Amino acid sequence: METVLSGIRPTGNLHLGNYFGALKNFITMQNEYNCYFFIADLHSLTTHPTPENLQGNVRQILAEYLAAGLDPEKATIYVQSDVKEVIELYLYLNMNAYLGELERCTSFKDKIRQQPQNVNAGLLTYPTLMAADILIHRAAKVPVGKDQEQHLEMTRTFALRFNRMYKVDYFPEPQAFNFGKNLVKIPGLNGNGKMGKSEGEGNAIYLADSPEAIRKKVMKAKTDSGPTEPNQKKPEEIENLFHLMRAVSKPETVQYFDDLYNSCQIRYGDMKKQLAEDMIQFVAPFSEKIKAYVSDKDYLDKVAKLGADKARESAQKTIRDVREIIGFKAY
Ligand code: TRP
Repeated sequence: METVLSGIRPTGNLHLGNYFGALKNFITMQNEYNCYFFIADLHSLTTHPTPENLQGNVRQILAEYLAAGLDPEKATIYVQSDVKEVIELYLYLNMNAYLGELERCTSFKDKIRQQPQNVNAGLLTYPTLMAADILIHRAAKVPVGKDQEQHLEMTRTFALRFNRMYKVDYFPEPQAFNFGKNLVKIPGLNGNGKMGKSEGEGNAIYLADSPEAIRKKVMKAKTDSGPTEPNQKKPEEIENLFHLMRAVSKPETVQYFDDLYNSCQIRYGDMKKQLAEDMIQFVAPFSEKIKAYVSDKDYLDKVAKLGADKARESAQKTIRDVREIIGFKAY
């Protein structure tokens, strides 16, 4: 069975874009692959060196993963900092990662612009830590968005370099996992681009959102002044509303408002009210489960422990091999 690995930084709640984009696919993938899903809390120190509520944020993501349907018995769900072997591999990989290639990395260049007061070595070596995450389980497939493709490319470079340096064929070259037609992009509520937490206040609907929060955000979504000719092409912000509706509403509902649009009789207020109610219905089972999981600390601890145990077993094997390959004493 092929090994798939995915990491997420604990810097925000999961939204519908995350759900339809990757999470929903993870639920089926956990039956078909050897899956590792982890929370990248070490990575978050590169931007938040003195985190306010690291444990709480980690628990929240864990609860949201479980609420979405990830199964700790099927997949290995763990917290990165629980697997110390990752840190050891990070060190070895750093010895063969060159300043030039790390400095050329787009995400590093972005970050030094965003936080010029804190250009730390962790930021520079973010790609080697990510490579360690992936290579520690010798994962073959990594589902990544566009913004992470360069990091995956660097992981392949580090893997190949390791193999070449030590004259082994040990690390596989991890490939991007493409969801193909199952990759559903969800637009945000502010009229342009995709749903995301960094796309502005009110742009994303979170799985943990309350009905009031959803109503408020949907009613504020951008619209235009309405169609003036029958069957007119929809401007982006209106197409986005229909897109969101197709994701959460019944086909008849979408058809109903589409017909109204095409006959120039649509009232966006009515459409948004309906969209809000359908989103509330869609999100409710998730938000209820999230609440239940978050308040059950013992259970979350148990899940994290189970994940850490499984992840460490695989990681320890890799570290044992790597130490032997490099020439350290076995242990
Ligand atoms: N860098 C990823 C992000 O910002 C998170 C991440 C860390 C990751 N390690 C990983 C993703 C390993 C995939 C594989 O989204």
